[in-house]
Amino acid sequence: MSEPIIKVKRLAYVRVSSPDLAKAEAFLRDFGLQVAARSGEAIYLRGTDPDPHCYVLTRGTSGVTAIGFEADSAADLEKIAKIEGASPIEKLDEPAGGQVVRLRDPQDMQVEVVHGQAALEPIQAAPSHAFNMDGRRPREGALPGVRWGPAHVRRIGHLVLESGDPASVFEWYQERFGLRKADEVLLPDGRTQMRFASLDRGQEFVDHHVVGFQYALDEGARVQHVAFEVGNFDDLMAGHHYLKAKRRKAVWGVGRHRYGGQIYDYWANPFGVIHEHWTDTDLVNEDSVPVDCDFADLEEYWGPQPSLSFVVSRWNWTAVRNLAGLLVARLRASRRSRSGAGR
Ligand SMILES: [Fe+2]
Repeated sequence: MSEPIIKVKRLAYVRVSSPDLAKAEAFLRDFGLQVAARSGEAIYLRGTDPDPHCYVLTRGTSGVTAIGFEADSAADLEKIAKIEGASPIEKLDEPAGGQVVRLRDPQDMQVEVVHGQAALEPIQAAPSHAFNMDGRRPREGALPGVRWGPAHVRRIGHLVLESGDPASVFEWYQERFGLRKADEVLLPDGRTQMRFASLDRGQEFVDHHVVGFQYALDEGARVQHVAFEVGNFDDLMAGHHYLKAKRRKAVWGVGRHRYGGQIYDYWANPFGVIHEHWTDTDLVNEDSVPVDCDFADLEEYWGPQPSLSFVVSRWNWTAVRNLAGLLVARLRASRRSRSGAGR
């Protein structure tokens, strides 16, 4: 495997458009993002960490329109600007400033690589507390730190890009930005169902995945969900019940993922874009060895079955045929494991 052109530092932001800005902003406030700035019609939202805005909301057809990664240096930005099809280095005329190079990935998603954005002051994060569990009782004479209300989003963590050919989309990101395979789930015919990819920061441990490259059952191309780290488990659960009280659309959760290990909770904005809260991710580094698993054998640690709106982003005959194939494979796998258990 050849060396990538650069190794990106982190996922910086997503740009999301919505036909009704007020409705989309109200959802994001309930979700736990906070407005950092407004400029023209764009709304810049942030988490409690000092990173610049991690979410740019604009008016338009509903969907994620761009993905932003931060580069380590201006020199790395110059390397990206030399890629065929990349824009020259341009000034970012936005509240956080900085410079950007724009390019398009194989599924025609705009990818932006930025450097030099100004950090913000951190703001009040979720309250936390020690747990009297596992035979230990460190919280003596103190109440748990829990606050009812929206979860406290800290930062953007990852997103899932889905398409008809996730393995080749992954390669594009691997070659340019140094994303590294973490683990992979395989379809019954051996193709990629989901390839989880982390940043490559050498010995430094990073989130299990920064991008998931997923096979779309309808074979369409899009960002399937965007995911944000919240303060802790109590913060996630308080946020869950707050969103429920606000009659927001629950998509899947609460549960704990097998791959990535996160406690997860998925919600849709008023236009169907899926947003995830998570806490407690697995961490990987350059020494971590990827594991492959058959989709039919994949079970989360705990949690409900995923809803159809999580599994199928858009219905067409291809989606129906692929979904039926996966369900049959699951059924066969559960029969196999039952007959194995009976022996
Ligand atoms: Fe996720």
